[in-house]
Amino acid sequence: MGKTIIVSNRLPVKIIREDDSFYYVPSEGGLATGLSSIYKQGDNLWVGWPGQNVKKDEEKQQIKSDLKRENMIPVFLSKKLIENFYEGFSNDTIWPIFHYFLQYANFDPNFFDAYVEANKVFCNAVIEVASEKDTIWIHDYQLLLLPQMVRKKLPDIGIGFFQHIPFPSYEVFRMMPWRKKILRGMLGADLVGFHTYDDMRHFLSSVSRLVGIPNSRGRIETGNRIIEVDSFPMGIDYNKYAIAAASPKTIDKEIKFRASLGKEKLIISIDRLDYSKGLPKRLKAFELFLNKYPEFEEQVSLIMIVVPSRDNVAQYKELKEEVDLLVGRINGKFGKLNWTPIHYFYRSFALESLSAFYRMAHVALVTPMRDGMNLVCKEFIASKLDKTGVLILSEMAGASKELSDAILINPNNTDQMVDAIFKALTMPEEEQVIHISIMQETLKRYNINHWVNMFMDRLSHVIEEQKSMATKKLDEQTSAVIKRQFSKSQNRMLFLDYDGTLVGFHPDPQMAKPDHTLINLLKKLTANEKNRIVIISGRDRETLDAWLGHMQLDIIAEHGVWLKERDGGWETITKLKSKWKDEFRPILDAYVNRTPGSFIEEKDHSLVWHFRKVETGLGELRSRELTSHLKYLSTGKNLQVLEGDMVVEVKNADVNKGRAAQKWIDSYEPDFTLALGDDWTDEDTFKAMPRDAITIKVGSTSSAAKFNVPAFKEVRGFLRDLTEE
Ligand code: UDP
Ligand code: G6P
Repeated sequence: MGKTIIVSNRLPVKIIREDDSFYYVPSEGGLATGLSSIYKQGDNLWVGWPGQNVKKDEEKQQIKSDLKRENMIPVFLSKKLIENFYEGFSNDTIWPIFHYFLQYANFDPNFFDAYVEANKVFCNAVIEVASEKDTIWIHDYQLLLLPQMVRKKLPDIGIGFFQHIPFPSYEVFRMMPWRKKILRGMLGADLVGFHTYDDMRHFLSSVSRLVGIPNSRGRIETGNRIIEVDSFPMGIDYNKYAIAAASPKTIDKEIKFRASLGKEKLIISIDRLDYSKGLPKRLKAFELFLNKYPEFEEQVSLIMIVVPSRDNVAQYKELKEEVDLLVGRINGKFGKLNWTPIHYFYRSFALESLSAFYRMAHVALVTPMRDGMNLVCKEFIASKLDKTGVLILSEMAGASKELSDAILINPNNTDQMVDAIFKALTMPEEEQVIHISIMQETLKRYNINHWVNMFMDRLSHVIEEQKSMATKKLDEQTSAVIKRQFSKSQNRMLFLDYDGTLVGFHPDPQMAKPDHTLINLLKKLTANEKNRIVIISGRDRETLDAWLGHMQLDIIAEHGVWLKERDGGWETITKLKSKWKDEFRPILDAYVNRTPGSFIEEKDHSLVWHFRKVETGLGELRSRELTSHLKYLSTGKNLQVLEGDMVVEVKNADVNKGRAAQKWIDSYEPDFTLALGDDWTDEDTFKAMPRDAITIKVGSTSSAAKFNVPAFKEVRGFLRDLTEE
């Protein structure tokens, strides 16, 4: 087992400059605080930016050696990259788009160029310390291209990617000019994780619509690799916050803070200065609350901690001014000599102070407009040792999916927020205890270690699967062995599926005609009298006859309903009844009426509903509906309903490619057998093959076949090799 290398834009520590010297302090933000307690195991490493522009070489060396002792590798970013990559593409393009602040997004191509460049800088830093045995865990939106970049350099390394911010709906994501590059970058990972199921399904939908790769329950198969996508809600280091809340230092702080305040109840609000956090709306709700419930004057204060963040980005500067003004206005309007409605801090606090605030607060007001997860609300719950307190939480925060015992609000609904504040301040203690206890149990169980273990276990699993697939990959060595066996044999039989195996897919099935290269290849193969080439397809016999009938080929059509030996005519193996079609045709017709772009193909003994040309999403939806409808109707009728590649087919259950292939093997007893196919119907062929047969799956991964190749192009190359004896 190698080491784990965590990669994120920001290291868990940042450099603070003071005159000519510098020192290190912990970084803020959920990613750094969440992971900082777990990365230092064994020889694990954390690669990231230390948060400052460092120019002098001797300073860089100093920082490198200081951080090395803490298992960290600094990545230095130039001033230009800080401006165009960090402030630019990361925080002025991706951040607003992914948090649904479309009006703030800046689509500057220079920003994207810098983003590519910075991801390369991170890639080089990773390559320098990584080996193929290691596992790379890349984090967050600043490094979306990195998984693919690392994959190119170290093709077999295990790569996990976790996104800490939301993934927007396809309709929003597709606005980005660089959308495909971004998705391909992410797909370099083996496992892609999000905080919530919604983020995950938005990502999968974008991959399917923009890159054209579908998924099956979060599993994306790209031909030679699989990528798993799932949601892993991030937890906190529960004990750290529970222990901090009980520590003498925290209690001292609380006593000190209380002495400066009155006896009023406290509402806490803690965030980085960010428009995604909904600070102005929160302040306005507090103002309205004081207006609506004047009896709470002098009885309640809001402690608002705003941590400086990204203050070179224009929107953040403007937000600072807006918050300052609002706080000033509310304090000016309601304040009294002995009472300040809002205690406002524009700075960060150390853990003991934060912990003291969490302890003292009766209510936590966490009302982001959008938030990937939000850890502050979880830290508040963990700090409530006596189990009293109330959490008001925005339903737009990922955390709301787990913390349904909070008072959940829509941050755009100010009246609802006002009512929630009232409800929280007047909630009986017994009720508070019930809710906090439930949430504490959840957070204890799904803590940060649980999160890391869940992600890493899943990643190891995918990496193992990837490896076992790699051993099935038809490499040059295996091809050479097959070729030797082929050369030695005298009576060879090759079963070749047509669509997806010898030719690529086409939206119109009638356009997938054999090209010249394929015709020549088949002619060459059939010219050798030792070879018997059997085309084994689901297509109707007329089409196959028209396209391939002029060659010395054996043909199995309609999955084995119709058979033709190279010198003979068409025969059918069983006397099949197809009266059932009269009953099923109108049902398929009804689905065509409801689904523009779909159409029916009628074969002698089957009916096929095609949805290749249907709007993405709608086709899949209808196909599931149609499949269950057909399955219900076909019970007891000796019919089989199959879901294929953009088709639903209902056919006679007595027919399959395997049975047909068996007939050929029994009659000709070949001394070399090979079967090539790409979909579920070919699995029957593979299973019917003799034990020593060579079976090769094209494209997707899980199969009964012994080997696999990525696509039809490789099939042609492989067959061409066989012709060159
Ligand atoms: N935080 C901090 N110092 C402060 C205020 C907050 O370290 O003065 C931490 C806080 O404890 C939390 C993190 O910053 O762990 C904020 O994470 P969250 O997920 O809530 O929001 P993000 O900043 O990631 O958007
Ligand atoms: C959020 C992001 C992190 C980021 C943090 C602080 O938590 O998900 O990736 O590090 O905010 O933002 P900053 O720009 O200071 O790194």
